[in-house]
Amino acid sequence: MPRYRTTFLLSATSADQFPPPSAPEIAFLGRSNVGKSSMLNALLGHPAARVSSTPGRTRAINFFAIHAGARVNPELILADLPGYGYAKISRSIREQWPSFIDPYLAERKMLAACVCVVDMNIPPQPADSVLAEYLENLGRDRIVVGTKADKLSGNQRVAAVGRLRKALRVDEILIFSAKDGRGVNELWNTIQNIVATARLSNDVI
Ligand code: GTP
Ligand code: MG
Repeated sequence: MPRYRTTFLLSATSADQFPPPSAPEIAFLGRSNVGKSSMLNALLGHPAARVSSTPGRTRAINFFAIHAGARVNPELILADLPGYGYAKISRSIREQWPSFIDPYLAERKMLAACVCVVDMNIPPQPADSVLAEYLENLGRDRIVVGTKADKLSGNQRVAAVGRLRKALRVDEILIFSAKDGRGVNELWNTIQNIVATARLSNDVI
């Protein structure tokens, strides 16, 4: 992605710290340790977000601005959200979330889509289904991405996609690996299309 440059905007731990609206936003959501920050870094082509050796490391919403060329206003904003549901499954993912996550997902006008990151190596997790339903009820667009695909064989990937589609009620699962770069271009294209549509339709901004 050489024609883009990334700047770290800020790390928010309350709704009043969210950045002023400046461009369509794409949020990265998923269980703790699933690989959200690694995905963001793979997309950006350099280590912008902190990758954790211990689960639950990201405790804030970290906002990154993506600029095209020398333009001052960003083309889009990527938001790296704290993970949910590591090890134990609670009745509601919201119980485990810091209070500023709900306002972001429910009320943020600039939020154009949510990238829901799931681990392809394990069976569909209840916490992921809860999140899917929550976002559906909010009317949020979802891009479901199955990550850590490098750990699976071709046949295993096909089976995993089938299981995830059913459990998360989506037509398409994008196959991804931050380790070998699989799916990086596809996810980037998907995000750019959504951002372009959001700008045209005035759904955001
Ligand atoms: P939290 O912020 O703690 O919720 O974690 P996260 O979802 O941001 O995960 P992170 O990117 O920090 O990665 C967690 C661990 O998974 C790290 O040890 C990564 O190296 C590893 N990991 C991430 N993506 C991949 C991948 O595509 N393949 C493999 N094999 N490992 C990965
Ligand atoms: Mg993280």
